[in-house]
Amino acid sequence: APPLQDVDNQELKKLLSSLPKERGIISSDTYQYQGFWYPPHALQGIINCQEEFQPRENDIFLVTPPKSGTTWLKAILYALVNREAHPPQDPHHPLLSKTPHQLVPFLELLHPSEYVSVCNSSDSSTRILATHVPLGTLPKAITGDSSSLNCKIVYLCRDTKDNFVSLFHFGNDRMKTSPISLEDAFDLYCKGISPGGPIWDQILGYWKESQKNPHKVLFMRYEEMKDEPYLQLRRLANFLGIPFFPEEENSGLVDQIISICSFESMTKVDVNKTGTFVDGSNNSSFFRKGVVGDWKNCLTADMASRLDQITEEKFRGSGLSL
Ligand code: A3P
Repeated sequence: APPLQDVDNQELKKLLSSLPKERGIISSDTYQYQGFWYPPHALQGIINCQEEFQPRENDIFLVTPPKSGTTWLKAILYALVNREAHPPQDPHHPLLSKTPHQLVPFLELLHPSEYVSVCNSSDSSTRILATHVPLGTLPKAITGDSSSLNCKIVYLCRDTKDNFVSLFHFGNDRMKTSPISLEDAFDLYCKGISPGGPIWDQILGYWKESQKNPHKVLFMRYEEMKDEPYLQLRRLANFLGIPFFPEEENSGLVDQIISICSFESMTKVDVNKTGTFVDGSNNSSFFRKGVVGDWKNCLTADMASRLDQITEEKFRGSGLSL
């Protein structure tokens, strides 16, 4: 198979030329596939995985719209699931020498050789994989014919105003030579033209599935993680069937996991400050401010209310509010 993220391969070029195309927020062009928008470098991987990926029952999928706190939750999941082999206080903890994206890769961005080693490994330990695609675009081998999910999905999203602002900064960090204006990016976002978007449709898809299938889909929010990390981490551990033992709680393990994954700790780790990610962005661009409500420094009151209004309309009747 051609490299998953090689945008120059002929097969992908042919596919891209058949898809609706727009200016993108994080890439100069974005393409619509099965009703949702993606940067070109992700599409080949998404399609290959739809055809080939075979889940295992103990797989954990982290699904997010980009810039919702994926990097953070990757770190948390890794530290949580591997807490026996790698106690969070271990001075050689993998999170101190690798980025969360190396430890928990995006399925659609795996290089073919990594893809093969992930898929063919005879090791039965839990695989944690991430993706940005909506429920309907996940490989059918995961969702099953009747939408009876074959593995657990942790879904994380974030207030759309903060999500947009984070996306806008990230995009301009990547596209230094052809930056996009705040106004243009905002219009695209409101029209649903953002990676993995329309964001509301993606969120609603997983929200409904989490209501229908609470043992298979856990719906989480960035703001709740910031507000009550201890509670959310326990919720996550319970959902994954690996609850904390009383001895673990008493020994401070939960706090240690929160601490090693905190914005302050992670931004001190060398590998998170230097080097580049597979899509060409800087590792450091996954860490910006890490706060709730930064949209106030970037959006006008009109922009904020326009976005809030769209969100309210889209979510009306779903039982969900952001
Ligand atoms: P901001 O741009 O608002 O600062 P993703 O990982 O999905 O790409 O999301 C990136 C966002 O998560 C950025 O938001 C980034 O700063 C924030 N983030 C990264 N690591 C974090 C951490 N450990 N704790 C809280 N937020 C974090």
